[in-house]
Amino acid sequence: MKRFPSGFLWGVSTSAFQIEGALAEGGRGPSIWDRFCAEPGRIARGETAEVACDHYHRVDEDLALLADLGVGAYRFSIAWPRVQPSGQGPANAVGLDFYERLVDGLLARGIEPLPTLYHWDLPQALQDDGGWLNRATAQRFADVVQLIVQRLGDRVARWITHNETFEHAVFGHALGTHAPALELGLGLFPVVHHLLLSHGLAVQVLRAESPAAQVGIAQSLAPAWPASDAATDVEAAALLDRLHLGLHIEPLLRGRYSELPMVDPGVVQAGDLETIAQPLDFLGINFYNANIVRAAPADAPVPIVEAEPPGGVERTDMGWPVLPGSFTEALVGLKARFGERLPPILITENGAALPEERQIAYLDSHLQALHHAMDAGVDVRGYFVWSLLDNFEWAEGYRPRFGLVHVDWETQRRTPKASYRWYRALIAAQR
Ligand code: BGC
Repeated sequence: MKRFPSGFLWGVSTSAFQIEGALAEGGRGPSIWDRFCAEPGRIARGETAEVACDHYHRVDEDLALLADLGVGAYRFSIAWPRVQPSGQGPANAVGLDFYERLVDGLLARGIEPLPTLYHWDLPQALQDDGGWLNRATAQRFADVVQLIVQRLGDRVARWITHNETFEHAVFGHALGTHAPALELGLGLFPVVHHLLLSHGLAVQVLRAESPAAQVGIAQSLAPAWPASDAATDVEAAALLDRLHLGLHIEPLLRGRYSELPMVDPGVVQAGDLETIAQPLDFLGINFYNANIVRAAPADAPVPIVEAEPPGGVERTDMGWPVLPGSFTEALVGLKARFGERLPPILITENGAALPEERQIAYLDSHLQALHHAMDAGVDVRGYFVWSLLDNFEWAEGYRPRFGLVHVDWETQRRTPKASYRWYRALIAAQR
């Protein structure tokens, strides 16, 4: 492996709902994902996240795994329903205690805590009030962020507001394959806008409460590739690009939405775009693969469908194509598009559900691709593997295994994989 710059941050990522379990402990309230998992047919094999990796009870064991791995930072998420069980009102102290213990445990081991403030687990009570369709939810988010930063702001140097507003909006609110199972199709714009508005409001709160803190957001990036040269497929890819970058990165960095018929100006109030486009200290990028798409049949709810990758392309256990070159392309394209407006980048997620040796090959090829992008002038400051542990992969349940550490779902026994040893050696060699 080529050398990365000194000071480059090596880390791993997880999220609360995917690992914690203990959904009814410590005063936690139900989230939209609790509700979704309880509905028949939503999750593969009827699995739920009630136990997940039982991380809530095994923090010390997981801290030891992080320390042994030698990472400089750990990205985790804070479950809103632990901190504010019904999504509003005073903080639930027990919930904050849990994250405080985690943060202190990380700092004691010389690992930087990098919390994400929202990774899709909205309190169900807020969904009952309209969830992200309701503009008031944006202010609610700013309020819970205030409670969190008041407790942890003296120890957390960098914050991430949201994880992947695109996926949360599209899977959860347009297609209904994730919680809260809305099927708004192209009617999802209010959800997008309120998520981004909540990001902007949260940035303002973080800066006011913790002026020295660095603040960013983690967005997905995936170049859209047309499945064929047919004009309709080329158009579908261009549309996906506008729906993705044009609605989820353009407003953050340029204070405007790309022109699209579904952008409803009635939803955007005076000053919103300025709030959304708060200066960022870094942009988190989650990358898995390019999206290969074609035009959908005329009667489909959304005009774009995923297409089969060309024959011979390796696929992960998620069915996703392995296309490392598309990582370089995506980052170089982002730089070309946003130029000086692009803040320094942290790769906040990259990884694959694959057997150990192929998982190593995936990570290795993607780090090479990242290095190419950096050689081409993209300012990248760190890289986080998704994920530390095998975990609850949303609607796919426990079968896809993204972890560097194998988790036995019967016993909760953790066993580091070959990929864990490979990553540990890489971090040590880069140091
Ligand atoms: C999400 C993770 C998820 C991973 C793999 C990302 O979209 O942030 O929560 O597990 O991809 O699907």
